[in-house]
Amino acid sequence: MLFTDLNAIEADFKAIKTRNYYKIWEPFMRKYNCQRVCELGVFKGDNFMNMIAHGPKLAVAVDSWRNEGVHSEKDAKYSKKELEAQFEYFRSRVNYLPFVQIIVENTAKAAERFPNNYFDFVYIDADHSVEGCTKDIVSWYPKVKYGKFLVGHDYRRGFGVVEAVNKFVAEKKLKLMFLAPSTWAVVKV
Ligand SMILES: C[S@@+](CC[C@H](N)C(=O)[O-])C[C@H]1O[C@@H](n2cnc3c(N)ncnc32)[C@H](O)[C@@H]1O
Repeated sequence: MLFTDLNAIEADFKAIKTRNYYKIWEPFMRKYNCQRVCELGVFKGDNFMNMIAHGPKLAVAVDSWRNEGVHSEKDAKYSKKELEAQFEYFRSRVNYLPFVQIIVENTAKAAERFPNNYFDFVYIDADHSVEGCTKDIVSWYPKVKYGKFLVGHDYRRGFGVVEAVNKFVAEKKLKLMFLAPSTWAVVKV
């Protein structure tokens, strides 16, 4: 089913908001029947675990779990050993879930593994620089099904996310919506 009534979706986003950010995902995923979901930039998996609470058919977790440069304000301060520990911790959280696929790779590169029009929901929270976020948006937008969602975190002052998202939305003439104050979302059209 295609959800093309963007105003209705936007109104729905406003209704879904809760005090606990993570609690937005379960009602959202159920309402929009998100069966194939993906997170880019997983860290220890706090957001991921909530994003999959509805039990999708496939949940892909992509993260390099390695400090390859400027990723985001969170991981720049971690040593290799700490990043590996984060990965092991995340793995232990999802080990028993057969529908979870972990990909240890650069997020933009990992897009090549999937066909176009494949995911119901892709969440971007990896490299927050203008260049990095643009690469993720451009690489993953085609992987989203028509009428489904490309969403991301940290649309806020001081992050390259704002410029990357604004440019892409303007070029593609998309409607920019917000699930939470700094969580941007577009529907693929
Ligand atoms: C802000 S944290 C993610 C937080 C997570 N989404 C959450 O809310 O629980 C960013 C993560 O993205 C990863 N990352 C950043 N840039 C990346 C890239 N280009 N490729 C792969 N992983 C990347 C880092 O290793 C880090 O774990």
